[in-house]
Amino acid sequence: MNTQVKVITLAIITMLISYADAEAQMSSTNNKILVTYFSHSGNTREIALQIKEATGADVFEIVPVHPYPTNYDSVVEQAKRELKADYRPELKTAISYMASYDVILVGSPCWWSTIAPPVMTFLSSHDFSGKTIVPFITHEGSGLGKSVQDVKRLAPGATLLEGQAFRGHAVKDARNDVLKWLREIKLLK
Ligand SMILES: Cc1cc2nc3c(=O)[nH]c(=O)nc-3n(C[C@H](O)[C@H](O)[C@H](O)COP(=O)(O)O)c2cc1C
Repeated sequence: MNTQVKVITLAIITMLISYADAEAQMSSTNNKILVTYFSHSGNTREIALQIKEATGADVFEIVPVHPYPTNYDSVVEQAKRELKADYRPELKTAISYMASYDVILVGSPCWWSTIAPPVMTFLSSHDFSGKTIVPFITHEGSGLGKSVQDVKRLAPGATLLEGQAFRGHAVKDARNDVLKWLREIKLLK
């Protein structure tokens, strides 16, 4: 091998090692993680996918049997009615494999200062005893509101880690905040 080839080979090997290091840094801790979310207009989905990208977590979308209206005023009115009635909309699927997970991140848009009704159905129809739940919310001003309180009420057997709120209109720029938060709660090294 001439010197130039050796230098190039060495540079490639160094690059591959540092890439592998970065990958290892990004990989999650040993907990088996599931990210579940409901999203009406895509913001919460975006955060869920950023969490998946960072941790390698599995993803489960919470989908109501009857989709909410796309018209803003209509969905706001329907959500108000459902929350007032403590209504639990039926979901398309349930998780039968919850036992495989230690940590479940639960994402919801903030609706009337709390989690959306499909997320309430999801929480109240699964057994989270012995699991760790991490709520995350996208919102336009209310922050976590009373969502953590409601998650606690609907999943009484779970241990709750600190929840995090993200501005709905800025989710595309939230990557660093997502990583910082995941490190703080020790889901990322
Ligand atoms: C029915 C409804 C109620 C909402 N209520 C609130 C609220 O109380 N506080 C708030 O900050 N944002 C509220 N928002 C804004 C959403 O929380 C925000 O746009 C969120 O990022 C949407 O997430 P998604 O795209 O995943 O559905 C509401 C939106 C809808 C549709």
